[in-house]
Amino acid sequence: MKFQFTILIITLLAFSNSYSQNTKFDALSIHDVRVEYFENPEGIDAPRPRFSWILKGEGRNRFQSAYQIIVASSSEKLIKNEADVWDSGKVNSNHTNQIEYDGISLKSDSKYYWKVKIWDESNNTTEWSSPAHWSMGLLNFSNWKGLFIGHDVGYDKTDKYDSLYLPSARYLRKSFTLNKKLKKATAYTTALGLYELRLNGKKVGDDYFLPGWTDYNKRLYYQTFDITDRLQEGENVVGAVIADGWYAGYIGYALLVRLDKVREFYGVNPSFMGQIHIEYEDGSTEIIASDRSWKSNVGAIREADIIMGETYDARLENSGWDTPNYDDSGWENPKIYTYPNGELEAHPGTKVKNVEQLKPIEITEPSPGTYVFNLGKNIAGIAELKVKGPKGTKVQLRFGEILKSDGQIQTENLRKARATDTYILKGEGLETWQPKFTYHGFQYIEVTGYPGKPTLDAITGLVLSSIETDASTFNSSNTMNNTLFKNINTTQSANFFEIPTDCPQRDERLGWTGDAQIYMRSATYNSDVAAFMTKFLVDLDDAQRWYGAYPNFAPFPYSRPNQYAPAWMDVGIIIPYNMYKVYNDTRALDFMYEGMQKFMEFQEDASTDYLRPGGGNNWGDWLAVNEETSHDFIGSSFYGYDAKLMAEMAEALGKTKDAASYRNLFENIKKAFAKKYILANGRTTEDTQTTYALALYFDLYPDNLAKKGAARLAEKIEKNGYKFATGFLGTKHVMLALSKYGYNDISYKIFQQTEYPSWGYSVENGSTSIWERWNSYTKDDTENSDLNAKMNSFSHYAFGSVAEWMFQHAVGIDTEDSGYRNIIIKPAITREMDFIEGSYKSINGTIASAWNWKGNRVLMNIKIPVNTKAKVHIPTSVLSDIKEGNTSLSKNESIKILNSNEKETIVEVGSGTYVFSVRM
Ligand code: BGC
Repeated sequence: MKFQFTILIITLLAFSNSYSQNTKFDALSIHDVRVEYFENPEGIDAPRPRFSWILKGEGRNRFQSAYQIIVASSSEKLIKNEADVWDSGKVNSNHTNQIEYDGISLKSDSKYYWKVKIWDESNNTTEWSSPAHWSMGLLNFSNWKGLFIGHDVGYDKTDKYDSLYLPSARYLRKSFTLNKKLKKATAYTTALGLYELRLNGKKVGDDYFLPGWTDYNKRLYYQTFDITDRLQEGENVVGAVIADGWYAGYIGYALLVRLDKVREFYGVNPSFMGQIHIEYEDGSTEIIASDRSWKSNVGAIREADIIMGETYDARLENSGWDTPNYDDSGWENPKIYTYPNGELEAHPGTKVKNVEQLKPIEITEPSPGTYVFNLGKNIAGIAELKVKGPKGTKVQLRFGEILKSDGQIQTENLRKARATDTYILKGEGLETWQPKFTYHGFQYIEVTGYPGKPTLDAITGLVLSSIETDASTFNSSNTMNNTLFKNINTTQSANFFEIPTDCPQRDERLGWTGDAQIYMRSATYNSDVAAFMTKFLVDLDDAQRWYGAYPNFAPFPYSRPNQYAPAWMDVGIIIPYNMYKVYNDTRALDFMYEGMQKFMEFQEDASTDYLRPGGGNNWGDWLAVNEETSHDFIGSSFYGYDAKLMAEMAEALGKTKDAASYRNLFENIKKAFAKKYILANGRTTEDTQTTYALALYFDLYPDNLAKKGAARLAEKIEKNGYKFATGFLGTKHVMLALSKYGYNDISYKIFQQTEYPSWGYSVENGSTSIWERWNSYTKDDTENSDLNAKMNSFSHYAFGSVAEWMFQHAVGIDTEDSGYRNIIIKPAITREMDFIEGSYKSINGTIASAWNWKGNRVLMNIKIPVNTKAKVHIPTSVLSDIKEGNTSLSKNESIKILNSNEKETIVEVGSGTYVFSVRM
């Protein structure tokens, strides 16, 4: 370790010297200081939290040579640099992320304050970063004092399949008094079901769908809120509204296929549990915990189900119930529930929030009294209603992704998702309402029962998502492709909803694993999904089948034994691998390692002579058009890919023996695979686009035949008019494989294609999102009744997996090692496009790459963040044809020429901006 470290420093110094970096620049500045991927998180429970930051600074070849982190128990101490919790001292290292806390044991229910400073390449130190903090949650089971409390609403379910059972939400309240001066108050809360925490009349926090979805039999997440500013002297009221949610409500397609259970997969009655920790100025403390002394009732929310919708009868509001001076004598004492099995843990992921608000762009009235609001894009979320009218008026909202030819919303593709919200007016002035415990996938809202003619401001679309899609930009000379990029982001936002769902609208919304693994790398380009996926890894690990396979979706609430499939189950390898590759997150690998090994054993057992047959649920190259790839081919190719990734991951964890044995396994699979599936002329035995794409991309081709295989793939695509014959699995890999073997022009032709099947086809048909099927809809065939009544989502990210190619090849940003420390800039420059420009905010800062034609020259504009290096691939072998700025490359001292071959020149650069001009 020490030895490696010395090499690192020597390399760093050598790097700085080789670029004769004499100019004096301003000190570097420190940004995005984070703990466990979050800015100032409340209530984490990682015993050794990881720190990260991003550096910015002008000039070139800037880097960090050392850092120091200090942690204090109060902000006052931090200001005075009194590191009473931890002082890392000056650590000679260029690491800026995944740095583990290494001080004294962190205490439950405690807040910590920290900052970092760094030394740059010339050993100049920066100012301290602005102060940051985090708090630890309740770390021990014995810290919990709350009981799980709910309210008995009876149970009147009669018919399982043909009528819905939608019980009302429950309301819980507790009044308490503060007589002394408050210093600090923290709420730790959770629910079996969904909950909204209320304090003195207002919601606490800005999250939706708390506490999140887990396998509740194994673990339940809690939230931590700093509520110091929300309490007042005298009477205070804490309240909770709870509903069925994933715990007790309808989940997925259970009703559609008439499973034994259609709801109540984890429990029957929702309940709330929590406690408020109060610390007074005089040092005394108090805990207000959920217990028998709380009061419970029902109220205005009459129905609340994630996929069926919500009904709110404003006449039944217990007005003022969550504020002081309310008479709760008519309320009952709560019913006590138990939570026998599970762990209580801090939610490690990002929570669902309202990330955007949309004003409708149009209202139509396809039939008298039926108004259809168009939000302009296909989102996941809810609609806020504004209405004024007589008491008892019932306004109904239904949701659709597209319109039929008669202008009515199409709801057939929602299948068993009722997706209907109802609001009953109390008749007191302007009433504004939004549901709490349901969401829909929609662009259009049908409003009926509205008193009078609504105006545009009657509806606001609230986009709900667990992520922000702000990590990248993409712009090119092809406007269709630019729209495609937007559509991919819209669809990612709609489906990164607590878990990566397949779709947000129909009776599904499950964490389908094939979709998630195919899209994973694309997801990372569009959004910082590190925390979101950290949480999903727990879901995957919890849902792993006892025999080793990862299931079709996670969480996996159904009790069906054989629910796995080739390319779906491989999620357990592919997502952790990308967490490592993109975020340098070896902790994720550590967490998954045992399970991954078990999965590899499962595959070994299922294989004969290193070939893993299809097995399990066989969806194959799901939704492929015109060509079919055998499930056995898919099974074996993914097995090979898994072995390859396992070797790399084992290496990253320092498990060299395992790495060697997985490398060996990969070689054996490769040999067996070639023998069975690859002919002497380089063709695959099945000769489908997907077979070439997978085998080439996964490196399963024998070296001497790979070029022939790539040529055949190119030929097939050309013959097919530059159109796909692929489904979920093949599509992503076709262009990645073509570009890997130099067929960029063909990749661009597919990318720009507008005829069916292609992305352009959906864009030209007016889509604002990514469709599940290549032919989900056409302008001329709005009825499309057969298809639409079935499985036809307009918000499915799987085909959006082209984002990976867009960034790695069209824009040309990739990482050579893990975590974008050694960046690859390799844009696929082509006459097929006039320009492409893009950027990606990596864990080390923003990387940008743009290229455009200027006559017979190409200009490449590149930005490399501080503390990283990049290998830039310039598409000419003639050095004298390359200029950087106004200087010819050979005279440029800050740029190192690494290699020049017949196709390109590769140079190494440090941080800074560069403009290469290349004669072509
Ligand atoms: C889901 C898919 C999923 C597939 C498996 C569908 O119903 O929406 O995205 O991967 O089933 O076949």
